[in-house]
Amino acid sequence: MLVLGIESSCDETGAAVVSDRKILSNLIASQDEIHKKFGGVVPELAGRRHIEVIAGIVRAALDQAGVTLDQIQGVAVTKGPGLVVCLLVGMGVAKGISWSRKIPLVGVNHLEGHLLAIFLENPSVQFPFLGLIASGGHTILCLAEDFGKYQLLGQTLDDAAGEALDKAAKALGLGYPGGKEIDRVSQPGNPRAIPFPVAFTKHRELDLSFSGLKTALVRYLKEHPESKDNLPDLAASYQEAVVTALTQKSAQAIDKFNIPSVVISGGVAANARLRKAFEDLGANKRVSVFVPSLRLCTDNAAMIALVGEEKLKRGIRDPINLDARAVLALENWK
Ligand code: KG4
Ligand code: ZN
Repeated sequence: MLVLGIESSCDETGAAVVSDRKILSNLIASQDEIHKKFGGVVPELAGRRHIEVIAGIVRAALDQAGVTLDQIQGVAVTKGPGLVVCLLVGMGVAKGISWSRKIPLVGVNHLEGHLLAIFLENPSVQFPFLGLIASGGHTILCLAEDFGKYQLLGQTLDDAAGEALDKAAKALGLGYPGGKEIDRVSQPGNPRAIPFPVAFTKHRELDLSFSGLKTALVRYLKEHPESKDNLPDLAASYQEAVVTALTQKSAQAIDKFNIPSVVISGGVAANARLRKAFEDLGANKRVSVFVPSLRLCTDNAAMIALVGEEKLKRGIRDPINLDARAVLALENWK
C-alpha cells in the first residue's frame, strides 16, 4: 500500500511516502532558525511557516519517492497531540488531497507515531514490548501488546524529559533546541561531578517527575555561580539524572511485567548517553533493546505514514470532519 504521511504538530513540517513499512521518502523542513531567538516555539509563527512550506514539502516527498498523487492509496496525518494552529495546516492539506482524489484519510496520534517508528527499520520487532516515548511534551512508559493495543504503565507527573533538558539548556545559556545542545556540551563532561536528584514518585510506581530536577539545577547555579565555568560537567551531571530516571523506571517495568524487549522513541531517544544506557540495560537484563536511528527519533512524517498504513490495512479510516486535538492520550484502536 502506498501511503502519504503529513506531520505538522509542532515546528517541523514533514511529508513522507511509506509502502509496506518501508520509507520511500521522508522530508522535513525545520523551523529552528525562526524560533531560536525566542528560545522556544512560537505557535502562530510556526503555523504560518507550515502554510508557506507544506505544499512544496508534499510535492518533494512524492517526487523523491518517484510516485504521483494518483498512485497514493491513503493519506495519514497527525491529529494530535500538538499545537492546534500547526496541526490544522497539515490536516487541511491531507483533507484536500483525500477529498479531491477520493482516497481514504486517517488521523494518527503523534505519540503512537514515535512509539512505532522502529517498524520502519526493524519490521520484525515482536509484540509485546516495553515502549518508552520521551519527547518534548511527553514521557510515557507503556506496554505495547499489538498495533493499537497499549497499556499505560507510567508517565511524567509534571515536566517531560525533553522539557527538562530544554529548560536546563536555557538556564545554562545554551542554544535552542536545548536537548541536542545538552547532549553536545556534555560529551567531554563528568556525569558524576554533581549529584543531581533522581526523582522517585510515591504516587504510582512507574510514574516519573522532572520538575524537581530543574529546580535543583537553578538552586545549584545560585549557590555555585562559578560552576558555570564548567558547562560540560554541569550538563553531563544533569543529563545523567534524566537518563537514570528513564532507565531505572524501564528496568522496574521489565522486571515487574517480565517484558522481553524494549523500544525507545521520541526526540530524547536521540540522546547519545540515553542510547548507551539503554544498550547497557538490555545487556544487564538480557532483553532486546531497539533504538531508532536519529532521524526517526525526532519528529518526522514517515512514522505517521507507517501508523496510517497499519490502520488502513485494518480498515480504519477517519471522516473528513476529523478534528485536531491539542491534548490526546495514547489510545487503543477500536
Ligand atoms: O519528539 P520530538 O522531536 O518532538 C516532540 O514531539 O516533542 O522531541 C523534541 C524533544 C526536545 O525536548 C528536544 O530538546 C529533545 O527532544 N531532543 C534531545 C535530543 N534531540 C532532541 N534531547 C536530548 N538529546 C538529543 N540529542
Ligand atoms: Zn514528537
